[in-house]
Amino acid sequence: MLDVKDIKNDFPIFKSKEKNFIYLDSASTSQKPQSVIDSVSSYYDSYSANIHRALYEIGEKATDKYESVREKVRQFMNVPDSHNIIFSSGTTESINLIAYAWGTKNLSNDDHILITEMEHHSNLVPWQLLSSRSNTSLDYILLNNDGTLELESLEKKILSKTKIISVSHQSNVFGTINPINKIIDEAKKVGAITVIDGAQAVPHMKVDIENLGCDFYAFSGHKMLGPTGVGVLIGRKTILEKMDPFMGGGEMINTVTMEKSTWNDVPWKFEAGTPNIAQVIGLGAAIDYIEKIGIENIHQHEQGLLKYGLEILSQNENIVLYGNPEIRGAVIPFNVKNVHPHDLAKFLDTDGICIRAGHHCTQPIMNRLGINATARASFYIYNTKNDIEKLGDSIKKTADIFK
Ligand code: ALA
Repeated sequence: MLDVKDIKNDFPIFKSKEKNFIYLDSASTSQKPQSVIDSVSSYYDSYSANIHRALYEIGEKATDKYESVREKVRQFMNVPDSHNIIFSSGTTESINLIAYAWGTKNLSNDDHILITEMEHHSNLVPWQLLSSRSNTSLDYILLNNDGTLELESLEKKILSKTKIISVSHQSNVFGTINPINKIIDEAKKVGAITVIDGAQAVPHMKVDIENLGCDFYAFSGHKMLGPTGVGVLIGRKTILEKMDPFMGGGEMINTVTMEKSTWNDVPWKFEAGTPNIAQVIGLGAAIDYIEKIGIENIHQHEQGLLKYGLEILSQNENIVLYGNPEIRGAVIPFNVKNVHPHDLAKFLDTDGICIRAGHHCTQPIMNRLGINATARASFYIYNTKNDIEKLGDSIKKTADIFK
């Protein structure tokens, strides 16, 4: 277990709130340590300048700080080359970038896109849009009742005409950690491009890009202690080089005439306009913080909380738990009999407990479960077993009110 008391001291929100503030919604967005907040404000305080173009000291400092985060991400995730790393506004933009810039050029009528019933809308709607734009078919690997993917169907679902397979690394609803190595290996057999939505994985476990061998991997800063508005798309350089740009604008070009333009090198070809400079720098500070604690230690801590959370919640006969994947991250979806999850979230809030309630941007999963919404508790480095006990007590109190 981590020294949570020490860790909480690094997070101003836990100091500014009353004692009973319990945050169990990190799968939605995480809290931020002081070091991340300081790194963002220090950019604005002392070297606020544009990058790649300001030829004075603070401009050079901003450029160096921004570019050094690329190298930080490279080391953190064992990416073969920092040129494979594109900064975006988040996972949603990263996946849309692939769907537009790769999909529009490379798909034709007969082709086929494969995703899963488990995907967040951000890894589903862009493929629906691409499928209708390029007149290609879109199919889904379905869900089992336990919240895992029906992987027995994988070989049947991957067709010779499958051009792209996009799958989440960890489900934002069930916490299921998908066997993406197996999916990537199967995709390679037909030459399909693989895209992994790592938004729920990177904050909580070691991800090694070289070892995975996927073509694209996307994640967001704000779920891993970093600022909102920053994300990363890691892509295979040979593929990125052949892709057209996603957005046109400043700095993504090499030359521009009235007739035509040529493109900057990868990754800058995909970073049009002034990027989210402070947020990228903040992401670097978040990676430093995670590395100081150790990603393996974080994973172990959360696994302990997950086990305890499942134990406590399953003792309450009014609670319905959804899914039961064997290999999962620290996310628990549930409902309380006779209580709408929105009501539950509001009542828990009166006890200072923040959980998420809703369809979690995964309406196909809700349809599969035959419900409209669930409550969801998700854990991170600043949570303790005591938080889970308080959650259990507050749920009991709420269930009694609604009896
Ligand atoms: N994707 C985030 C969640 O699952 C917003 O809550």
